[in-house]
Amino acid sequence: MIYLDNAATSFPKPEGVYLALDRFARTSLANPGRAGHAMALAAEHALDDGRHRLNRFLNGRDPNRFIFALNGTDALNIAIKGTLDAGDHVITTDLEHNSVSRPLQAMANAGFIQLTRLASDSGGTVDPDAVRKAITPNTRLVAITHGSNVLGTVQPIGEIGRMCREFDRVLFLVDAAQTIGVVPVDIQTQHIDLLAFPGHKCLFGPTGTGALYVGPKAKVRPWREGGTGGDSSSPTQPADYPYYLEGGTPNVLGIVGMIAGLDFVEAETPAKLLAHELALCERLRERLLAMGGFNIAGHIDTSRRVATMSFYSDVLPATELGGVLDQSFAIAVRPGLHCAPYIHKAFGSFPDGLVRVSPGPFTTVAEIDQLADALQEITGGL
Ligand code: ALA
Repeated sequence: MIYLDNAATSFPKPEGVYLALDRFARTSLANPGRAGHAMALAAEHALDDGRHRLNRFLNGRDPNRFIFALNGTDALNIAIKGTLDAGDHVITTDLEHNSVSRPLQAMANAGFIQLTRLASDSGGTVDPDAVRKAITPNTRLVAITHGSNVLGTVQPIGEIGRMCREFDRVLFLVDAAQTIGVVPVDIQTQHIDLLAFPGHKCLFGPTGTGALYVGPKAKVRPWREGGTGGDSSSPTQPADYPYYLEGGTPNVLGIVGMIAGLDFVEAETPAKLLAHELALCERLRERLLAMGGFNIAGHIDTSRRVATMSFYSDVLPATELGGVLDQSFAIAVRPGLHCAPYIHKAFGSFPDGLVRVSPGPFTTVAEIDQLADALQEITGGL
């Protein structure tokens, strides 16, 4: 199997992740904070260490403001549903994944919020000036993806964050699902109030991991209340972070895996990981252009993208092409709409979608060449 679906979830994981999962599961997998015994303390220590590591990596203001979540969608839903009040106005974009678009659209359909969805330009970038122009006295939230999961384009979040900071009422929510671990994210200098990310993509943790950073300006109501380990006598959720937003036993094993993945990212460096993956995408681009009959989406400029490359063939719909790659060549790509229908509408690939190729750190040049050869074989004969 040639795995080229790292934008959905990374595979394989670095060896250190498998080792950390195995070791922790065998020695320390108790319920963190629920008792004073040594194993419970070890589990609690692992969570605390994870929060400190994320805070340092992302230049947050406080480790306890990192709330562990199930995935990016979970983190985004905690942020969106916990901050918005009736009558609020929200600005988002046509690049968003359904994890942002669907909760917002449902709230707009219910008449709870007003929603502005900004169009990105033809290359897939949102203009910070357009965000500024869309702000009204009722604007509460600007919700934007850092990297498009379809086009790979990286948005100017520093500029947008700086602009949002000029408005007392506006919170800046960044969905870093496709960028965390490959593109620098700096909570403080990019003025991010709410940062949502999964642990299972470019942080190389297992599925079921993610986090939400909640900055001091954001007031997030918990939707999930329950046991936190400490202060069981309190009739309501303790107000201190992270417990305020973290009712229930956390996925401590998964978080240990995610932090082992972060070890790998920090050792390799995000810049090196991204350069490797972009070089593979560029090789594929050259092969597709040389073959002809393929249309590639997103910016050509590699300094404005992550290594997620989507295209369609003139001769075969994306889902069929993806199916043949899987069944006849054992090559895993993701065809279709990628849970991001608005950008496919803007690009003109709705409803058939595109074939998305997303290499990872362990993908080789030979594997990309095998994909290109397979595409030539499939489409050349049609
Ligand atoms: N959000 C993931 C993707 O883009 C699942 O494939």
